[in-house]
Amino acid sequence: MNYKHALIAPIFQRISKSADELGLDCYVIGGFVRDFILERGREKDIDIVAIGSGIALAKHVAKNLPNTPKVQVFKTYGTAMIKYEGVELEFVGARKESYNPDSRNPSVEDGTLEDDQNRRDFTINAMAISLNSATYGTLLDPFNGLKDLAEKRIKTPLDPAITYSDDPLRMLRAIRFATQLNFDIEEASFEAIKAQSDRIDIITKERINVELQKIVESQTPSKGFLLLEKTGLLQRIIPELTDLKGVDVQEGQKHKDNFYHTLEVVDNCSKHTDNVWLRWAALLHDIGKAPTKRFSKKVGWTFHGHELKGSQMVYHLFKRLKMPLNDKMKYVQKLVFMSSRPIVLAQENITDAAVRRLVFDAGEYVDDLMTLCEADITTKNPYKFKKYHNNFKRVRAKIVEVEERDKVRDFQPPVSGETIMKTFDLKPSKEIGIIKEFIKESILEGVIPNDPQKAFELMIQKGTDLGLTRTDGT
Ligand code: CTP
Repeated sequence: MNYKHALIAPIFQRISKSADELGLDCYVIGGFVRDFILERGREKDIDIVAIGSGIALAKHVAKNLPNTPKVQVFKTYGTAMIKYEGVELEFVGARKESYNPDSRNPSVEDGTLEDDQNRRDFTINAMAISLNSATYGTLLDPFNGLKDLAEKRIKTPLDPAITYSDDPLRMLRAIRFATQLNFDIEEASFEAIKAQSDRIDIITKERINVELQKIVESQTPSKGFLLLEKTGLLQRIIPELTDLKGVDVQEGQKHKDNFYHTLEVVDNCSKHTDNVWLRWAALLHDIGKAPTKRFSKKVGWTFHGHELKGSQMVYHLFKRLKMPLNDKMKYVQKLVFMSSRPIVLAQENITDAAVRRLVFDAGEYVDDLMTLCEADITTKNPYKFKKYHNNFKRVRAKIVEVEERDKVRDFQPPVSGETIMKTFDLKPSKEIGIIKEFIKESILEGVIPNDPQKAFELMIQKGTDLGLTRTDGT
C-alpha cells in the first residue's frame, strides 16, 4: 500500500527534493508513521533517516527552506535537528549499533535501512515511508508492524532479550506504549522484561521520569502500574508503592490491599482531571500506610499519622526520582497530607466551622482535594458508595456556601497589623499576633463574619481585654 497521503505536509516534498539532489535515500520513520496509521494527531516531531549522512541531508534541507532555518548538529550522535514551523525535524544516518552491556551508549557504524530498523525498539516504531521521488510513499515494514498495530501488540523486531538489553529504558517504553495505546505486550517481550528488570538501574532518572510521566498522563494509568509491578520494575523505581501490596490478617481482622486500592483511586481521579500532579497525589496518597501500619486487639488495623508520614515520603521520592522539588511537589505533599480531612467531615454532621477550616487549610487546592477524596471511594458496596458520594456532594455545596459568605480560601486578615498598631499606639509586639490570631479564629469558628467592620470591633474588644488603650482619638 502506498502512504503518499501521510506525506501531505509541504515539508516532505522539500526533504524529498533535497535527498534526490544529494542522491541519498531517505525515509520518515518511527513515531510519525505509527501515529499516522493510528490516526493520533502528531505534529511535534518527525524522524528522518538517511542512508548516508543525516547531517548533510539536514544542511541541504535547510538550504532549500525559506529563510534557511538553523541546523543544530549533535556530532557525537551523528544527528541534526531543524525547527521548522513549530515542528522538530530530526535527521539521522541509518545505523548499525552494538551496545556495551554496562552502558547505554552504543558504538555506531553506518548501516542500511534494514540495519536501522533492526535496532529500533518495537515493530510498530520500525516502519518507514520512503521520501525519494521514485518511491515516494512506499511503506517499508519488514517486521509487520502494521499487523501489530491492528492487533494492538507491543513486540520487538529482534529477540526481546537483545532489544531490551541494548537499551533497558525500552522496558519502560514498552509499558508506556501499552498504557498510552491500550496495547498488550507480547508474552516473550514480557518475560524478557521480567528477566532483566534489574537493568533499569543503569538508566538515568531523567529518562525514567519521562516515561513515568507519560504513564501517569494516560487514560488508565493503572494499566501501566500493574505492568510495572508484574515485571518487577516498580519495586526498583517506586518501592513505596509495592510496599503497599498485600493483606495482613490478625485475629480474624484484615485490611484492604492498599496497592490495588491506590490504582483504583488513580484511575478514578484520572477520569476527572488531566492535572498530572493531582494524579500523582492520588498515586501517593496512601504511601505512608506501609510504615505506619499497626495492629491492636482493641481497634484492629490502624495507620495513624500516615498522611504526615506520606507527605514527608513524597519529598524523598521526588528527590530520588529527580522530579521537580518546587511548588508541584509542595502541591502533592499538601494533598497527601490533607487526604483524610474531607473524609472525616463527610462522616459527621457538617458544621460551617469545620468546612471553613477545611477551605482555610486547603486554600486554592480545596477543589482538587475534594476530587481526590471522591476518587478515594472504592467501596464495592453500592449502598455505601452512594452514601459517601452524597456526603461529599453536601460538603462541596457547603464549601460554596461558606466561601460566598466568608471568603477564607485566600484568607487576608481583615484588620492589618498596621491598623492594630495605630489604634493602640503599639510598636511591633506579640499583642499584634494575638489579636490577629483571635480575629482569624473567630471568623473560622463563625463568631463573626469575615467583614472589616466586625473585625475592627472585635479588635477593640480583644485589645481592651489585653489591657491596651485606644489612642486613635475615638
Ligand atoms: N527508539 C528506540 N529506542 C529507544 C527510543 C527510541 O528504538 N529507546 C526509536 C523508535 O523507533 C522511536 C524513535 O526512535 O519510534 C523515536 O523515538 P521517540 O521520539 O523517543 O519516540 P516516538 O516513537 O517518537 O514516540 P513519542 O513521541 O510518543 O515518545
